[in-house]
Amino acid sequence: MNIGILVSGRGSNMAAILDAIQSGDLNVNVSLVLSNNPQSPALRRAARENIPTKVVNHRDYGKDREAFEAALDAALRSEGVDCVVLAGFMRVLTPFFVRRWKERLINIHPSLLPAFRGLHAQRQALEAGVKLAGCTVHFVDEGTDTGPIIAQSAVPVLDTDSEDTLSARILEEEHKLLPLVLHWLAGGRISIENDRVRIARI
Ligand code: GAR
Repeated sequence: MNIGILVSGRGSNMAAILDAIQSGDLNVNVSLVLSNNPQSPALRRAARENIPTKVVNHRDYGKDREAFEAALDAALRSEGVDCVVLAGFMRVLTPFFVRRWKERLINIHPSLLPAFRGLHAQRQALEAGVKLAGCTVHFVDEGTDTGPIIAQSAVPVLDTDSEDTLSARILEEEHKLLPLVLHWLAGGRISIENDRVRIARI
């Protein structure tokens, strides 16, 4: 399976995917790392490992979201990508892009969806006073942080937590969950029936 990874910032989830490949836990080919942010450190790590990288800067497209997404789409197709992973990609994708990658587009979000969609999910969890937080990997549909849920991992929220400490605890789970879901996908174990995800046992 050829994957394309879309990142905007730090890129630790991308790094977790590359680490899982290197350690032999994950058998996928990263065909492209694509960022809307030329400064993303993820681009440097990928380039060090001879993974093709590309910047498609949304600022170059002004308000023309479709042209921006057409450029993303073209780059992914030209590298033969089968499945797109949003790993901290902080641009909302419109139906134009989402429909083209239907059921081949996954996202990781730092909350137990459907709770706390959008920005600052960890802060939202703290403000709501929930006792469990976590992360979700899901197929992307046309909403924001919506679509069939593939897997979730929960962590406790401690009385002493700040946004930073809670985010760090969730991030550790993200780094395990995303490579695991990709492992299931590459093994053909994931199917969607009536908007619900089934994971075949082996
Ligand atoms: C991660 O916590 C990811 O779940 C979140 O951005 C962070 C990216 O970190 N994504 C979203 O909030 C998407 N709605 P990273 O660049 O170190 O992987």
